[in-house]
Amino acid sequence: MSLNIQAIIHELLQKGFESALSLKGESLDPLLRKAQNPEHGDFQSNGAMGLGKKHGMNPRELAEQVVSTVDLNAIAHPLEIAGPGFINIKLKDDTVLEMVREMDADPQLGVTQSDDSHPVAIDLCGVNVAKQLHVGHLRSTIIGDALARMFERVGRRVYRENHLGDWGLPIAMVLERLMANSVDLETLSLDALNDAYRDAQLGARGDERGFARAIECDAGPHRVIELETQNESASGAQQAAKDLLIALQQGDEQLVQEWEKLIECTMRSVFESLGLLNVKIGPEHNRGESFYREQLSGVVEEFVDGGFAEEDNGALIVRFENRERPMLIRKSDGGFLYATTDLAAIKFRTQSLCSDQLIYVVDARQRDHFKDLFDATKIIGWDKTPDGAEVEMVHIPFGSVLGEDKKPLKTRSGSNVTLSSLLEEAIERGVVEVRKRSLEPNAPTHGMNDEKLCTIGRQIGIGAVKYADLSNDLVRDYVFDMDRMVAFEGNTGPYIQYACARIRSLISKCDADWSDAEFIIHEPEERALIMQLLQYNAVFQGMIQSLEPHRLCTWLYELTESFNTFYQSCPVLKTEDSKLRLSRVRIAHLTKKVLVDGLDVLGIESPEHM
Ligand code: ARG
Repeated sequence: MSLNIQAIIHELLQKGFESALSLKGESLDPLLRKAQNPEHGDFQSNGAMGLGKKHGMNPRELAEQVVSTVDLNAIAHPLEIAGPGFINIKLKDDTVLEMVREMDADPQLGVTQSDDSHPVAIDLCGVNVAKQLHVGHLRSTIIGDALARMFERVGRRVYRENHLGDWGLPIAMVLERLMANSVDLETLSLDALNDAYRDAQLGARGDERGFARAIECDAGPHRVIELETQNESASGAQQAAKDLLIALQQGDEQLVQEWEKLIECTMRSVFESLGLLNVKIGPEHNRGESFYREQLSGVVEEFVDGGFAEEDNGALIVRFENRERPMLIRKSDGGFLYATTDLAAIKFRTQSLCSDQLIYVVDARQRDHFKDLFDATKIIGWDKTPDGAEVEMVHIPFGSVLGEDKKPLKTRSGSNVTLSSLLEEAIERGVVEVRKRSLEPNAPTHGMNDEKLCTIGRQIGIGAVKYADLSNDLVRDYVFDMDRMVAFEGNTGPYIQYACARIRSLISKCDADWSDAEFIIHEPEERALIMQLLQYNAVFQGMIQSLEPHRLCTWLYELTESFNTFYQSCPVLKTEDSKLRLSRVRIAHLTKKVLVDGLDVLGIESPEHM
């Protein structure tokens, strides 16, 4: 028996429609869905209505013909037709039990593994040197890491690419500012660096025309600065920064050393925050803009040699067939741009790493940038790996995190909220909650030492933030509501974590060996829970296809609800019949395995006790 039962039924029904309509082809979709009302069965096929209408046949008669030819007797009860032509399918309990045994015995829990040997490259985090991590980087990091885990879970090799903003004029401006103010880079704090960055930006804003033009393009901080400086009337500070950049680019030893200190200082604090977040991102994933600096002129040359770039007022641009907006790849002063670096990165990822899937988790304001980038990649032909695989390029734009006033999240003083302050608050809330609960004499955490409580508190607080971030449609803005996120009830991370902890303690109280117990279906709630568990692979594959982690969130929430319903109506440890009791423990255990696995894919830890 295969766990792909839905695929098998789909195929058989499709054949049934083919013979009933004397037609062939993919277009004969039986529209097989999970049944809306479990009383009618496990699945329903809604295909007869549309197909009957399209091919001039009464839908109910069509359904009857299909049912008379399709033989599902080995696995399902006789098919039933309802209403205008719905076909209801209810699996036999034996089928369900065989599938759940198979799922439980499979170390992958039924999740089909991919046979694509090309790696996936996921562009995530993307912090800028000398700047505090802000909430946008939080989203890129959390979403990117969850997508990476998802691909790893199906056996794909993943490159987490932290495309740091560590090169170019913005950095030169900061360095220039710091050196002009004789700041000691050895003992620098990230806050001081951040201030220098702001100073440098403010300096650039003195140039009104340039700034207006940059804002007009609304293309993210990089382009704003790049475009500002295109204006000829750059301020003195900008000129100094440009000179410094040239010296840096030429490898001036002392400058390179100072530049490395900036990076070190930024990354020390970045990794401190990432450490709290439970993401698999470390220094080994840094491949910032500076990594590509030697390749930029080569990239531009390839475009020129292929006849894909043209001169425009001394600058070099790539034009696209279907739009006015060109892509600037070299400025008139010979400097390269954010886009040039990204082209070099694409060449590296597809041609050297041989990735056939490039995923960019970058905020929605950079949409145009990625559209241009992907089209330019196709023009130059880097959309195929050296061994001929088609490269899929996707920008996953995400929305903003809003405060209660529905405006982008700001601190009381009006500055942008930093990542570390946000995480500290979440952890604090988690710890408070755990400490409070541990005061109850019968809580599993009662009497635990404070260090352990703090660890659990961190897992809850961070889990809450991550779940809230992943459980919505990614491009939607969402309101950051810490009270709701850390609640133990409702569609939250802690609700699911709490179910895991409760199941763990339930199982630990069973003193008999249940590990080989026979699965038994006695009550409808038992069956419903098992049917939900059996959906895991389908949900997983749907999520990989759509790159939508919220699908897994929703499903884990539903699974938790199914478990709670089961637990309310099916006593576990108090069941007299020992076979049934052990079967229930085993079902609970499988549920826990799946919940823990699913949370892990989302990057959320499951505390043993809560
Ligand atoms: N550093 C950029 C920013 O903060 C994000 C980098 C995104 N990745 C990329 N390959 N462009 O806007």
